[in-house]
This record gives sequence, C-alpha cells and structure tokens, in this order.
Amino acid sequence: MRGHYNFVFFKKTGRSDSIMLLITGGAGFIGANFVLGWLAGCSEPVINVDKLTYAGNLDTLGSLQHDQRHVFVRADIHDRETLNHLFAKHRPRAVLHFAAESHVDRSIHRPEEFVQTNVVGTFTLLEAARAYWNQLTGADKDRFRFVHISTDEVYGTLAPDAPPFTETTIYAPNSPYSASKAASDHLVRAYHHTYGLPTLTTHCSNNYGPYQFPEKMIPLMLTCALAGKPLPVYGDGLHIRDWLYVGDHCAALRAVLARGQPGETYNIGGCNEKTNLDVVHTLCAALDRIKAKSSGTYADQITFVADRPGHDRRYAMDASKIERELGWRPAETFETGLEKTVHWYLDHPDWVNRVISGNYRNWVELNFKLHPAPRTFFSEIAQGASAKTVWGSMRAE
Ligand code: NAD
Ligand code: TYD
Repeated sequence: MRGHYNFVFFKKTGRSDSIMLLITGGAGFIGANFVLGWLAGCSEPVINVDKLTYAGNLDTLGSLQHDQRHVFVRADIHDRETLNHLFAKHRPRAVLHFAAESHVDRSIHRPEEFVQTNVVGTFTLLEAARAYWNQLTGADKDRFRFVHISTDEVYGTLAPDAPPFTETTIYAPNSPYSASKAASDHLVRAYHHTYGLPTLTTHCSNNYGPYQFPEKMIPLMLTCALAGKPLPVYGDGLHIRDWLYVGDHCAALRAVLARGQPGETYNIGGCNEKTNLDVVHTLCAALDRIKAKSSGTYADQITFVADRPGHDRRYAMDASKIERELGWRPAETFETGLEKTVHWYLDHPDWVNRVISGNYRNWVELNFKLHPAPRTFFSEIAQGASAKTVWGSMRAE
C-alpha cells in the first residue's frame, strides 16, 4: 500500500447511544488482528489509538482504508489531552488496551521506553478512563469495561516439572519488559479496588500468526529461512513457551469483553508447550513440505547463538478458568496454526518485504512529516477538535 491512507471517520448520530470500542495499539500485531476480526464479525465501530512506533504498521489495516467503522488516530497514550478528547467525543463502551513496548530483547537494550509506555502510559490511560467513567451514569456506567492485555511473563519462569501458571501464581517478572507489564497490571488492579473502575486483565502466552513483526521468534525464523539466512536459536534451544494462535487469542478477548467479570484476571493459553528447537524444526518441516529448497532442508540453517541474558526457561499456562467460566478454548493446534501462519507469510510477500525494507514506515513519513497541513479527512479536525491538540499528538517521533 503506497501513498495516501485515507483515514476514515465515523459519523456519529448521537452521543448517548454511541456504541463503540476504543482500542490502543491497534496497528500492532495482536491489536490489528483484533480490529480486523472485530470488524469482520460485527458492525460496532472501533476507534484505534496508536502512536505508530516501529511496531505499528498501517499496511496491516489497509483493507479498512474506506471502512466507515474504523477511526484511526495517531496518538501516544501519554497524551492525556488527546485521550480526554477522544473519550468525550466518541464515548466508547469499552477500552481494550494493547499498546505496549512488547519485545523482550529490546527491553534488555533500552528499558526506558518500556517503563514510559507500559507503566506511565497505562497510568495515563487509566486516569483518562477513570475520569470518563466517573461522569457516566446508569446503563452506560454499568456496561463500561477496561480490558488490559497483559502477558504470562509476569509470572516469571517455571521449573521443568512445575505446574503451569494459574491466575493466582505470584508475580516474579524477570525482564524489564515483564517487570513493566507487571507494574501496569498492578495499577489496573488498584484502579479496580480503589476506584471501582470495571477492569479485566488477561494474561496470554506467546502469540503467533499473520502480521507479526519479524523480530519475534516465529516470523523471524520464517523470514530468515526463506532468505537463506541462519536461524538463530538462543542458547541450547530447550527453553519452553506455550504457543497461542492470534485468532484464538482475539476470540478469547471477545469472550472476556462480553462475559468477563470486572476485577477478574484470565489466563489465555494455547495448550501448546514446545521447546524453541521443536518450534523451529516443525517450522522447517512445514516449509520443506510447502516450499522445498532445491537442495537440503531448511533445518540445515539452524544456528545456535549466545543466549539472551536472564532468559526465562519455561512458561506454561493453565487456561482452565476462562474455559470453565467463559466457555473459551483454543480452536487451533500448534500444527494447524503454524500451517496457516506459514501460508499467510508465503502469500503476503509484499507485507513482509515492506517490513524488512523499512518501507512500511514511508507512509508515516509521507503523511506525518512531509505534509503537515491539517488534513480535512482526519476525523478530529474535520469534526471540530483543536488542530493543535490533534496535530501535536500526530507528529512523527
Ligand atoms: P506490538 O509490539 O506488535 O504492537 C504494539 C502496538 O502499540 C504498536 O502498534 C505500537 O505502535 C503501539 N504503541 C507502542 N507504544 C505506544 C504508545 N506510547 N502510545 C500508543 N501506541 C503505542 O505488540 P503485540 O505483540 O501486538 O502485543 C499487544 C499486547 O499484548 C501488548 O500489551 C503485549 O505486552 C501483550 N502480549 C503480547 C504477546 C505476544 O506474543 N505478542 C504475548 C503476551 C502479551
Ligand atoms: P520471542 O518471540 O522474543 O518471545 P518471548 O521472549 O516474549 O517469549 O521469543 C520466543 C522464544 O524464542 C524465547 O525463548 C527466545 C527465543 N528466540 C530465539 O531462540 N531466537 C530468536 O532469534 C528470538 C527472537 C527468540
């Protein structure tokens, strides 16, 4: 997708009957899958607030370019003024908070950004949501939900024979990433206990599937395999993760939004505990089958590299609570989910190439730096918001 991206805006018909979701981080991997799945399944509009860091990719949302139900606002969740404005204007019935710095390796090199976005940003969003919720009344107030998307990594690491994490496992985060997510979880919990804000927190395991940025293990291995590059397995490759297909995760979040109890937390797992080496071998076998090399196997490219500092050995999820209480369980096995993922990456070379080349950022540069004139198609300005507020929050970093 090149050139202009038409931000589409939802023309509201009234204030009090507004039914819409406010999503943060909806240009990232899971948030975008959620938005695409949501709008494929129902008519309720979405306001999508995303800063467009390196992890935000509007190519992913290209199919919504002309969809009146999708409002995209480039904004930082630290920007309280813009958040206040968006809450007041769109009056969402729920917030789904995906926005975060999400990559463990980056958190080891540059932890500051993780504290800023994951802790301070979540705090700012909670404050804006609380102020908005406080002035709601009646049914609008009762139905409001704040869904906070967290991670299994807050629970720390498990011994090989230890039982999986449950919702009551004591927090023991080990990386700057997981520590910052843990801090945000505590704030969310406190906002429920202190102020009564109807929050729900979910802890998911490692997601994989379409539109994942190829810094995370599965898309990284896939893209390296196809490019004939080494497949860098950290340490001995025997670290264990539980793999969750992103479509299953989004279905779980819809169940939490619809039927979850405020104040509760829910683990969301894929029932797929695998060593990293198993994952890479399964991936290589799938590629050998679907897109064989002229000689040898993709597994020949596996290379052991230095381990990640503080690398958690094992994560495993007990997701029985969400199955018991909300009737959700994953539909995909690891094999079916991985097969879909491999096909998706093979079928979308343009998306992959624009990420690898960095060209997916061109849209941001083009629209947010080179053409700073107020854009009449942009919903907030078009509908009377202060241009200063909107433009200030839309500037490229
Ligand atoms: P991602 O890194 O792909 O996307 C994050 C999105 O948030 C990007 O679009 C980015 O532009 C946006 N963002 C970052 N900082 C922002 C800010 N200050 N203001 C507004 N937007 C900002 O992440 P993801 O993999 O989609 O993860 C989504 C959520 O799920 C995160 O909260 C993450 O901690 C959690 N999670 C992810 C996984 C996984 O396997 N990917 C596993 C467990 C939990
Ligand atoms: P990752 O996708 O970064 O997710 P997380 O660290 O949040 O679990 O990594 C998944 C696993 O794969 C983790 O144990 C680290 C390992 N890994 C590699 O072995 N090589 C790589 O190049 C990457 C990115 C990860």
